[in-house]
Amino acid sequence: MLELRDVHVHIGKLHILQGVTFDIKPGESAALLGRNGVGKTTTLRAIMGLAARSGGKISFDGTDLSSVAPHKIPRLGIGYVPQGRGIFPNLSVLENLNIGTQGKRDTEREDYVFDCFPRLKERLKQSGNTLSGGEQQMLAIARCLMMRPKLIILDEPTEGIMPLLVSQIRREIHRINQSGVSILLVEQNVETALKLCPRVFLMEKGVVVYSGTSGELKTNTEIVHRYLGLSRKPAA
Ligand SMILES: Nc1ncnc2c1ncn2[C@@H]1O[C@H](COP(=O)(O)OP(=O)(O)O)[C@@H](O)[C@H]1O
Ligand SMILES: [Mg+2]
Repeated sequence: MLELRDVHVHIGKLHILQGVTFDIKPGESAALLGRNGVGKTTTLRAIMGLAARSGGKISFDGTDLSSVAPHKIPRLGIGYVPQGRGIFPNLSVLENLNIGTQGKRDTEREDYVFDCFPRLKERLKQSGNTLSGGEQQMLAIARCLMMRPKLIILDEPTEGIMPLLVSQIRREIHRINQSGVSILLVEQNVETALKLCPRVFLMEKGVVVYSGTSGELKTNTEIVHRYLGLSRKPAA
């Protein structure tokens, strides 16, 4: 459904993505892992049309994304939860949820996202900046869900969030995937990533250097150590 072929991105004179290739199949949940600064966020931004490509091809359900304006990409069915969440701090929870729905409320869908994240329902009229970090992350995911995406792309959704909410967010990501939505997850927490995602891509310096299953990585500590710099074996 999502296919990246030899994607290059330059920022100024820097060659940030140097030929990224991978794909996500319908219903699949995949993790994109790698050390800080290898280009994970840039890869996601390239998919969303927010980082200009200098080469290669990205397509979604057969549509070449280079022919689609960035603001129209979510309408094709790709939801993006950027690193740092990107909610509107001065808008209420309800206003944030309906930002993409062009003024029309979809109460059936609202009920679905409140079922996923009951904390949001209790905070409908609160403005975004009064929510905790974990609640803001839930709101960012919920806002994507309002658009009924086929694929959700999440950039470090549990970064800096208190453990209680991390497990809730993790559980909901799993449940969203179970409902048939594909997931592309960038995650610093390797254990979380391997638990949630049967397929894993490892990046190093602007390229995907390894693609395999989470099961392979759980037993292949050498690869995990080499590309992620972890000496500890991730929990099964
Ligand atoms: N707007 C930018 N200007 C200059 N350099 C950037 C910019 N965005 C990213 N980079 C650089 O590109 C590299 C990859 O960044 P990023 O995609 O954010 O990595 P990751 O998400 O894997 O930590 C880093 O070296 C970063 O400093
Ligand atoms: Mg990043």
